[in-house]
Formats: sequence, structure tokens, C-alpha cells
Amino acid sequence: MPTETPRSPAPDWWQSAVIYEVYPRSFADGDGDGVGDLAGLIARLPYIASLGVEGIWMTPFQPSPQVDQGYDVTDYCGVDPLFGTMEQFDSLLSKAHSLGLRVLLDVVPNHCSSEHPLFQAALAAGPGSPERDMFHFVEGSGAGVPPNNWQSVFGGRAWSRANPDSETDKDWYLHLFSAGQPDWNWRNPAVGDYFDGVLRFWFDKGVDGLRIDVAHALFKADGLPDSPSTGGVVDGLRSNPQVSDQEDVHEVYRRWRTLAEKYEPHRLLVGEVNLEPARAARYTRADEMQQAFAFAFVKLAWDPESWAAVGNELEAARQLHGAAPTWALENHDIVRSVTRFGGGELGSVRARAAVVALLGLPGAAYLYQGQELGLPEVDVPVESRVDPMWARGGVCRDGARVPLPWTEDVVANHGFSLGAPAAEPWLPVPAGWGTNAVKRQEQDPESALNLTKAALELRRQLWKNEVFAPDDGGKWRVEAGNLLICERNEHFLVAVAMGAEPVKLPAGTVLLSAEPLAEDGWLQPNNAVWVLRG
Ligand code: GLC
Repeated sequence: MPTETPRSPAPDWWQSAVIYEVYPRSFADGDGDGVGDLAGLIARLPYIASLGVEGIWMTPFQPSPQVDQGYDVTDYCGVDPLFGTMEQFDSLLSKAHSLGLRVLLDVVPNHCSSEHPLFQAALAAGPGSPERDMFHFVEGSGAGVPPNNWQSVFGGRAWSRANPDSETDKDWYLHLFSAGQPDWNWRNPAVGDYFDGVLRFWFDKGVDGLRIDVAHALFKADGLPDSPSTGGVVDGLRSNPQVSDQEDVHEVYRRWRTLAEKYEPHRLLVGEVNLEPARAARYTRADEMQQAFAFAFVKLAWDPESWAAVGNELEAARQLHGAAPTWALENHDIVRSVTRFGGGELGSVRARAAVVALLGLPGAAYLYQGQELGLPEVDVPVESRVDPMWARGGVCRDGARVPLPWTEDVVANHGFSLGAPAAEPWLPVPAGWGTNAVKRQEQDPESALNLTKAALELRRQLWKNEVFAPDDGGKWRVEAGNLLICERNEHFLVAVAMGAEPVKLPAGTVLLSAEPLAEDGWLQPNNAVWVLRG
């Protein structure tokens, strides 16, 4: 270990953090109704703590008709009875804190549910009313013709008629997602005031931070002009000047950062900013959010050149704006990495290497529940699919949302359901799901679970011993034989053999490898290492 004088200042907790994303409906089912809930999560918190992560991010559990599995909120400051009660949330928060876990919640400020009382009031109040000005209600440009050509991210047009049966009400309302998710009009200051209240409510309770859903899309271009884009309007890393990534949105995050820093410890803001690195990094300038997911990285295939190119692009953005990238390889919206990286045994081995790489990179990292188990994407039978994106556009995200297997036997949905008797889970699990179970992996020293734990433990030690520092950058390159290297600092590098042939190990001491190493100084294909350099 290096011994020079300690670097300063000490990192904020989130700079070194690994956060575990919990998708509550698929994590653990406390009451046996087949849907995961707060009681299940409370019971399983010790498992999360045992992984060695710093905290959890919970996707929405607030009251919602569940059109988009909770990303359609009717009450931002409540708990949906499907998931439990506010008392249970309060005990969850205190139990998590007592286990040393921070708790981040999801806030969905771009849109609410069409059943939200303010949207219902807007529908009732009619065209031109102040109630409608909380949303984007616009008169159509002709019979059956919406106000502009915008397409929903989920497919189909981004507009629906407010009152299809009325002759006089010619308004349409905007929904970048499903028709059940009307977009708020952030140009109306009342919307900002409303969300200040939401943030305060959770921060006052002691919630440690917020993940901000579709953070780059709150403001739309003035006048809502047609878009040249034919795909979903906020999809695909491109900044879309008609629909998203408007300058005005940054004011929201300055205001929220000020609010977050009124609390001790300061609350964390992490954005879902699905933009190319240079644009996304503008959301983490010193007075905006602390973190924004590195989506360019999340979307990579198994290809060293593109990893290095994206890594260097993210590093250039960091140098411009100061904040380290926030790494993730999985979340509840994307195909599991095992499957993305090739599926089967090959995909599993690559996903293990990718986790080792991920946890060694400079910046915070997020793991998605089940990633530590190496779960593959599930091909959910068509008749069981519930994702509105599937219904509207043909892409299905349910395969990454199948309930976690806790035990090997099939009883109680592989231990997913804690209450008895256990109803069928809300998404069916495939045959053999139990082979991935937590219980089984806990007993196998070579399992994905134990590898993830070992990486997390070592990561903590390296922070403690100042091998890792908050101002580490990433210098990425590809060496002969498709060896991907990210040099984190002068002492430490991550290397991944991404080609088909073995490659010479970089000089230094190997601290961790995804697969056992031979003594011959070569790294086999699809293995990854952490190297402490001389
Ligand atoms: C985000 C969420 C996704 C949701 C969408 C609309 O992308 O991660 O699950 O469908 O926003 O809220």
C-alpha cells in the first residue's frame, strides 16, 4: 500500500459509495400476496447490509394506479397500501440507518399519474384554467390532430385528448410516457413550489437523498415546436433541443441542491440524465446534483474500444465539470448484463468480470438487485407481461424485474414470499430459477454473490488506505489482445481481457480477479483484475 501523506479533504460519503437499487415489488414479499413490499424489504435489510454497500435506492412505492409500476404517482408523500404503510416506511428508515445503510428514494418530477388530484382538477376545470396550466394542455391543430409531432418514449404519440367526448374541449395533454403519466408544466412556478414541499417532506423524515427520474426532461422548448426526432423524444443519449435538456432545467437542480444542503448531513441528488457524457456532466456542476448516472457506460456492449472511448469521454466531462462519473451496468429498465454480454455461461463470466471492473472505477457505483447473483434477463411469457412500454412500443422491461430467488426450493416462490400462504408472484419466474438463489450462492465460495462481496470489501479497504481518492480520474486504453485498461491513479488500475485470446497481465500485484488466475502471468479471456502497481 502507498504510504505518502494522506490526501485531503476527506471524501463525502457518496463519493466512495456503492448503492444497491431495490425494486420493491420484486425484492421480498412480506405478506404473501405475490408482490414485494416494505415488510419484505425490512426483513431482508440485513442481507443488503451484509453485501457491504453504503445504501439503497428504492424505486417508487408511493400511491399509484401502477400503470408504470409506480412511476405514475398520485400522492408524492404517501405509501401505496400495496407496499405497506408510512409507519412501516419509518421503521424501514430507522432499521436501515441502524445497519449503517443510507436510504435514497425515487422522485418523479417530470410527470404524475393521470389520477393525481391536481390533474383530475385540471380535467374538470376546463380549457384556459389555471388548473390546466399546471400541465401541458394545448388545443389540437385540427380534428384528431395533436398539437405537435412528439412521440412518447413508450411508443405512439405523446398526446392524448383531455376530453375525447366533448365538442367544446379541444385540449390535448402532453405525456412523454404513457397516457396515464401527464407531464407537469415546469414553466408554472406553482409546480416548483409543489416539489419543494415533496423534497422537504422526505428530507425532514431523514431520507438521505433522491434519485431524480427523467431529470433532463422537465422543461420543454417554449412553444412546444415539432421535433425532427422520429423515435421516443427523450430516448437514446441525444440531447433533443425541442423536448429535453433545456437550459432552464438547471435552475431546478440549483434550487434543490440549496435545499439539500440545508440538512445535515447534506442530502444527495442523483439524476437519471440519459444524455451523452458532455451534456449529462452539466447536471453535476458544483451547485447542481452531486451525481448523474453514466448512461453512455450503462449501454455498452462487450467491446473494449467502445468502453475505452466512452470512459475517456466521461473523464473529459469530469475534467470540465468536476464531478466523477456515477457508474452502473444494470437497472430496472435495461436488459440484465449477463444476457447483454452474451447470455449463458459466456454472459455469466463476462458479467462477473464487468462487476469487478465496475467496482474498481473512479466514482460512485450502483448495483441493481440480483446483479450480485448474476441473474440473467428472463423471457417473460407474452401473456404475463405488464410493462406499459411493451404494450405501447414493443420493448419489454419485465425481464429484468422478475422476483429475486432467495432459496433453492420452490416453496413460497423461492423464498420471495415470507408471508403464508404465498400467492403466485406478480411476474412468473422461469423453471430452475432457484439455482441462482441467495442461499445457494452464500454457500459457494466461487459464486457471483461472494465475488461481489469480496470486491466491495476490498473497495472499502482501498478507500480507507487511500489507494482510492475522490479526485482519481480514469485513463482508459486498449492494449494488444483486446486488454481494456482503466488507470485510476498511479497506484491502481483495472484490466479486463475482452478478446478471445489470453493476454499478458499488467505489471503489479493482482488484488482481485473475477476468475481464479493461473500462475503463468496471463489473463484468460473474460477475466478482470484489480492491479496494485509497483
Ligand atoms: C424512468 C424510470 C422508468 C420509468 C420512466 C417513466 O426512466 O426508470 O422505469 O418508466 O422513467 O417514469
